Amino acid sequence: MAYLSPGTPADLADRARAGLADRLGATATVVARAPGRVNLIGEHTDYNAGAVLPVALPHATYAAAAPRTDGVVRLASAQQDRIWTGRLDETGPGQVTGWAAYAAGVVWALGPLLADSAAGTGGFDIYIDSTVPLGAGLSSSAAIECAVAVAVLHLAGVPITDEVRAATIAACIRAETEVAGAPTGGMDQTVSMLAQAECALHIDFRDETHEPVALDLPGRVLLVTDTGVSHELTDGGYGARRADCEQAAREMGVPTLRDADPADVARLTDERVRRRAHHVVTEIARVADVVAALRTRDLPAIGAAFAASHESMRDDFEISTPELDLAVDTAVQAGADAARMTGGGFGGSIVAIVPAERAEAVTTAIDAAFAGAGFSAPAHLLAEPSAGAGVVD
Ligand code: GLA
Repeated sequence: MAYLSPGTPADLADRARAGLADRLGATATVVARAPGRVNLIGEHTDYNAGAVLPVALPHATYAAAAPRTDGVVRLASAQQDRIWTGRLDETGPGQVTGWAAYAAGVVWALGPLLADSAAGTGGFDIYIDSTVPLGAGLSSSAAIECAVAVAVLHLAGVPITDEVRAATIAACIRAETEVAGAPTGGMDQTVSMLAQAECALHIDFRDETHEPVALDLPGRVLLVTDTGVSHELTDGGYGARRADCEQAAREMGVPTLRDADPADVARLTDERVRRRAHHVVTEIARVADVVAALRTRDLPAIGAAFAASHESMRDDFEISTPELDLAVDTAVQAGADAARMTGGGFGGSIVAIVPAERAEAVTTAIDAAFAGAGFSAPAHLLAEPSAGAGVVD
């Protein structure tokens, strides 16, 4: 069984340096790494002031960068043919499209942090390479944003203090929502910047707190299966869900669904809006359940919460697909302790907690079920919880 390899940071940093030299003729002064993520539970809760429990993947994006002195930004990527070139003042909303928006948008959003340094305002050559699968619901875009941010801050000589990390998360969110035009919450950027190895990160978007939760489940692995059904958060389905949540909160007279009383949710008159709100309110409660269950290593409780979360996303939030449903059902039948779809939905991946000795049986069963259903072959990876973004030495 071949899992998608995360590669090793040293090799991938060398590859990124070589790419910067080949594609842009520049010599890297820094390589930064930022991980993708898989969310254990808490879906579509971040923009409702709820909680989430993501894990940083060992699969990451690497950004090799060199400073310029002419105010120009050039962006190239191993995953893209096109080189983007523009001036520093052409990196903002409405000025960049496609993949380059994620990287250029970060340069724009970090502007105030870079303004005090000559290297921060002279322009940049940046080359990106990634082992995070694209369009798989594993935050390849946040990984680009955070890797570019750390690289550029390093070039500008800005030390990454806790305060700067927080400002960087905010800048990466602005790049995604205002420049790339994906109306997402803040989970992906937060975990990519703040994750700790061997832990999930429990983020509470109302209290603005985050704490690592040890993922200490003896003999278990975290298996991620990418269904290969592509997922685009700028497509409209994500924004429509967000609008339904806002409507529900407005009708109940609460600032966010985090403050909603389940009895008020049950009284919402629009059936679709009621189901959307029901998902969010119950999902926020499930995050707390899973955090508690991880502390006591209560795998049956985690399994029950994952199952309820998946059903809620399938039936109430309506963001699952036949491929995700089949992967989840098959994983559980083949011996997973817990499985659910993960991420924004409409395709992408599932996450499963699996006894290590059953991992191969589970992936084989999913492959066979997909072949039997006429779906294209899925891809699997092991999500060994990794650390957040930083410079690769
Ligand atoms: C995407 C978004 C996140 C979050 C998830 C759903 O990954 O980027 O902000 O809303 O979907 O939980």
